[in-house]
Amino acid sequence: MSDFLRLAEDIAREAGDMLLAKRPTMSEEIETKSSPTDVVTALDKASEELIRERILAARPGDRILGEEGGEEPGDSDVRWVVDPIDGTVNFLYGLPEWAVSIAVEVNGQVVAGVVNLPARGEVYTAALGEGAWLGAERLRCNTGVPLAQALVATGFGYGVSRRAVQGQVVAAVLPRVRDIRRGGSCAIDLCSLAAGRVDAYYERGINPWDYGAAGLVATESGARLEGLHGRPVSPEFAICAAPGLFEELHDLLAAQNPERDA
Ligand code: IPD
Ligand code: CA
Repeated sequence: MSDFLRLAEDIAREAGDMLLAKRPTMSEEIETKSSPTDVVTALDKASEELIRERILAARPGDRILGEEGGEEPGDSDVRWVVDPIDGTVNFLYGLPEWAVSIAVEVNGQVVAGVVNLPARGEVYTAALGEGAWLGAERLRCNTGVPLAQALVATGFGYGVSRRAVQGQVVAAVLPRVRDIRRGGSCAIDLCSLAAGRVDAYYERGINPWDYGAAGLVATESGARLEGLHGRPVSPEFAICAAPGLFEELHDLLAAQNPERDA
C-alpha cells in the first residue's frame, strides 16, 4: 500500500469515528448553502477541519481542496481532495449511507482514494494501477449487463431548475432499465458500482470532492468513468459503467440532452 493511501485511510477512519460518535439528531443547528435543501452541519465542518489538520501535520505544503473550506493555496504537485461527509442529508436523517472521502492527486491525477462508510463499517480503497478494494476483498464491477437489465444509480442536484431537467431525464431512463436507485451519496454510488451492487451510475453536477476517491475505486474495478461525448468526467456530467453498458447508457442519456439546464 502506498504511503499516500495509508495516510488517507488513517485520516478517513479517524474522521469517520468522530462523526459516528457525534452523529446529530434532526434538532441540530444546520445551515444551508446553494439552496434551502443543501445543508451543512457543524460536523461537516469539524470533520473537514480534523482532516485538514492531519494532512498538514503529516505533509506540510501539500494543497488541499475541501467541500466546505475550498482550496488551500500552495505550489505542491500533491493535492488532497476531501469530502468531509458525502451524503449529508442521509447523515442528518440517521440513514447509514454517508461517507468520508479523501483522494490524493499528483499533478492532477488521482493516485489514491479512500471512501469510509462508518455507519456500515465499510472502507473502500484504491490505488492507481493497483486495484480497488473493500477491506481485503478485491473489487470487480459487473460486466456483460445489457441496459435493459441494468440497475442504475443516480442523484439530483440541489437547484430547482436543474432538478426539473433531472426529473425529465430519469423519466426517460426508467422505462429502459431494470430500475433506478437514489442512494444520496455520489461517493457511495460509485463504490457500490465497483462492488457490483449497482451496474451503472450517472449524474449531473457532482464535484471533485464527491467523485475524486470513489471515481478511482470505480475505474480500478474495471469501470469506465467519463462525461458525455468522450469528455473527461467533470461537474458537467458523469457516467460510469463497465464497457458495453457504458456506451448503451451514454447514448440514451446523450439523446436526452441532460446538460440543458441553466
Ligand atoms: C451530494 C451527494 C448526492 C448527490 C449530490 C451531492 P453532499 O453531496 O453526493 O448523492 O446527488 O449531487 O451534492 O451534499 O451530500 O456532500
Ligand atoms: Ca459531497
